[in-house]
Amino acid sequence: MRILALESSCDESAVAVYDDAAGLLAHELHSQVDLHRIYGGVVPELASRDHVRRLLPLVRAALATAKTTPGDIDGVAYTAGPGLIGALLTGAAFGRSLAYAWGVPAVAVHHLEGHLLAPLLEATPPPFPHLALLVSGGHTMLIDVEAPGSYAVIGETRDDAAGEAFDKSAKLLGLPYPGGPQLAKLAAGGRRDRFQFPRPMLGQGLEFSFSGLKTAVSLAVKERVGNGGLDDATRADIAAGVQEAIVETLVTKTLRAIEETGREALVVAGGVGANAVLRERLAAAAGRRGVRVFYPRIEFCTDNAAMIAVAGLARLKSGASETDAIRARATWALTDLAPLTQPG
Ligand code: KG4
Ligand code: ZN
Repeated sequence: MRILALESSCDESAVAVYDDAAGLLAHELHSQVDLHRIYGGVVPELASRDHVRRLLPLVRAALATAKTTPGDIDGVAYTAGPGLIGALLTGAAFGRSLAYAWGVPAVAVHHLEGHLLAPLLEATPPPFPHLALLVSGGHTMLIDVEAPGSYAVIGETRDDAAGEAFDKSAKLLGLPYPGGPQLAKLAAGGRRDRFQFPRPMLGQGLEFSFSGLKTAVSLAVKERVGNGGLDDATRADIAAGVQEAIVETLVTKTLRAIEETGREALVVAGGVGANAVLRERLAAAAGRRGVRVFYPRIEFCTDNAAMIAVAGLARLKSGASETDAIRARATWALTDLAPLTQPG
């Protein structure tokens, strides 16, 4: 079976063609970073309008790269939530229209299930069951994945997501949007032990809280702006301190979850999973406990349509198909998903 998938939940317009026998045949992506940069963050209305402009040319490009005609496509998947509602609706309306025109089923995909199943695109896919650390701009979750489609959220953030903490701290340091990767770059030249930023609830439980971090960073920055002490070395040290606080928290909680669940494989998914220090630290810590770590390749950590195609094809094989009104959901609990009868 061959599926065409659309992703438009935030500021990336993406299209992929995926085949259960031949694998990933094409994945095209247009990032809206340049469009939103001057505003310092994603402007939802501009994002929706740009998805409308980008999706059709990306579909044409993906079909050409995949050497596929609409007649070869068995289903159209699209991200139906969670995300920015206007942005989601562009993909939902376009996906449903394509499916209708091509006479094939349309499949609504949960964006986070896409992130969770992204490692299935790699040569060595993770075994099931496993533990997943899902860290993106909007979510920070520890998920016990019994099987594809069976997700128990065992830990979550009470406030900001890890990616949000990276982005907000980066903004306070005057780094351009999107802040996470920029902060990581700046941190590489800094001392990680000069600034001790808060690590709430580090000693117990599987819950996260990152909202105090931006306050602490804001104070550290303000103090030095006042007395002229915010030189380049200090900015790098603050960045390294922020990254250290976030990474240490994520690693500590993930190890605790491994202990509590007894899982022997760990999946790290979502945009923050692209962070090199996090990847390195988790691999080392899990390795010492005999736990194998599985990551999607870097480009499939952040938003993309290849992961939506994998999840969409698994859902299509399980019989999922949208027939009623075109729907998108800004919020959508992972635990609302039905178990998949056919793994990807
Ligand atoms: O999964 P994703 O592309 O979009 C959402 O579904 O949210 O994640 C985006 C998030 C942003 O907060 C971005 O700053 C963060 O992932 N991110 C990083 C890195 N690359 C992306 N954070 C830290 N280090 C990175 N290298
Ligand atoms: Zn995402």
